[in-house]
Amino acid sequence: MKKILDMISEEVMDAFEAAGYARELGKVTLSNRPDLCEYQCNGAMAGAKQYKKAPIMIARDAASGLENSPLFEEVNAVGPGFLNLKLRPGFLRDYLEGMAGELKFGLEMPEKPRRIVIDYGGPNVAKPLHVGHLRSAIIGESIKRIARYAGHEVIGDIHLGDWGLQMGLIMTELQERQPELVYFDENYEGEYPQEAPFTISQLEEIYPTASARSKEDGSYREKAMNATFKLQNGVPGYRALWQHIIRVSVEDLKKNYRNLNVEFDLWKGESDVHDLIPGMVERMKKGGYAYISEGALVVDVKEETDTREIPPCMILKSDGAALYNTTDLATIMERVEKIAPDEIIYVVDKRQELYFEQVFRCARKTGLAGPGTGLRFLGFGTMNGKDGKPFKTREGGVMRLETLLEEINEVMYRKIMESRQVAEEEARETARVVALSAIKYGDLSNQASKDYIFDIDRFTSSEGDTGPYILYTIVRIKSILNKFQEGGGSLELVTLQPAVNLSEKALMLELVGFNAMVETACEEIGPHRVAAYIYDLANAFNHFYHETKILTEENQDRKAGFIALLLLTRDVLETCIDLLGFSAPERM
Ligand code: ARG
Repeated sequence: MKKILDMISEEVMDAFEAAGYARELGKVTLSNRPDLCEYQCNGAMAGAKQYKKAPIMIARDAASGLENSPLFEEVNAVGPGFLNLKLRPGFLRDYLEGMAGELKFGLEMPEKPRRIVIDYGGPNVAKPLHVGHLRSAIIGESIKRIARYAGHEVIGDIHLGDWGLQMGLIMTELQERQPELVYFDENYEGEYPQEAPFTISQLEEIYPTASARSKEDGSYREKAMNATFKLQNGVPGYRALWQHIIRVSVEDLKKNYRNLNVEFDLWKGESDVHDLIPGMVERMKKGGYAYISEGALVVDVKEETDTREIPPCMILKSDGAALYNTTDLATIMERVEKIAPDEIIYVVDKRQELYFEQVFRCARKTGLAGPGTGLRFLGFGTMNGKDGKPFKTREGGVMRLETLLEEINEVMYRKIMESRQVAEEEARETARVVALSAIKYGDLSNQASKDYIFDIDRFTSSEGDTGPYILYTIVRIKSILNKFQEGGGSLELVTLQPAVNLSEKALMLELVGFNAMVETACEEIGPHRVAAYIYDLANAFNHFYHETKILTEENQDRKAGFIALLLLTRDVLETCIDLLGFSAPERM
């Protein structure tokens, strides 16, 4: 379906053209004076010079051609030269009727869908998820859903950190504690046990212990580097042990991401490209890009126009070990070869921006990614506490994601129990759903690149620009629809009617902006656009609700029109929250 703004613009452009002016002057925008009009056209102002005429004259000429337009109820040429436009309620109704009858509310699909890989999540195996991982998961999931809804082919890849020193550290610590394990016996030739020699909670304790020890003890660190080397070079016991670590950890990660409503299409990791590294290095050497500097293999990536220092990209350390860079570059190579994406988007903390600049330049320079593959870094800001500093536990430590979720679930649960008596079990489940909306909306209503303050009280409030407010609105609509049905009404039989009051029309005007909003959100990779839209839509609905007697309306056609409008509002709101990655309960 054509976007409503385009339809309106074309109508006005026709009028400009018919009056002898340039067509482009008829471009229409949303009104910036909603008290005066719904849409406006400023073209007459722009045309004044060219036609050597007062803008108001031009505006009047165009307006006279729109007198009998089926689109406009009111066309006013006002000084100094604006066209103020109001839509006919019947036209608005027909447009909405079209939206309601079409897939995705008539959103037009791209002629050439793009294939996009989104690299997000990025947890590190065997380290517990903490709040730092929250934003990547929330933002990445939402942009995946938005781009997919907009008609693109999107592949989400978690890109596990599963190949670095942290693996060696864990193995070293395990060896200290249980030297008798067969994995460390180089002469062992039997099958390795099926069971992992640790649980997830042991694993999560082992890593920080090992990491702390390695900082104090040089020989311990040496051992860990050696273990990493053995792992990367395929020593069977180390590989077998590593498999256990991955399995136990991934199982736990899957559970955590499921709780966040986050789903990855690919669970690949840094380790998956290990075997591609020698070939890639060869390519870089042959092409004359990579050279040895102080023992390490590097590629220069600085450019003349740089205003800051961009250090070379290190490909291999002097001991031949691969780095974070190396696996990212090899992953680009693999994605280009196997998936051939039009674009790869990285949703990572913005503090890694320089790093990605180096990696992207290196990939371009060495030809791993050609001009057909966009490489885009979507860096997000920090989640801060109320004190404006990075969010911490009360004790000042890094907060585990699970703890954070439990806390917010608990706050929500108490609020739900306070305001209403529902069975405990239902309250728990509802609290979980609403808490997720609080966290996700609290994040996504900000532009991703900005820092934001994580404020549990504000996020869980049912008033204001919050997730729970949006959910309350949806639940309110559902409850009216239920009552309508309980009273014998059928949702299949209702049809939209032209608006009969201002608040109803205002709600309709919000709804018609849906497809333009999705397109913008997708183009800008901006979930905050969706959040802003549903906030406006929810406000428009609540205003309408307070102004209008819906179920007690006596005119049956009119009542049916209200119900049809509620249905569409509910569907659009539910679609939007799904794009943000959360859902609404049946009641609250
Ligand atoms: N594991 C990394 C970290 O915790 C994030 C991974 C980001 N993605 C990437 N392709 N490098 O910092």
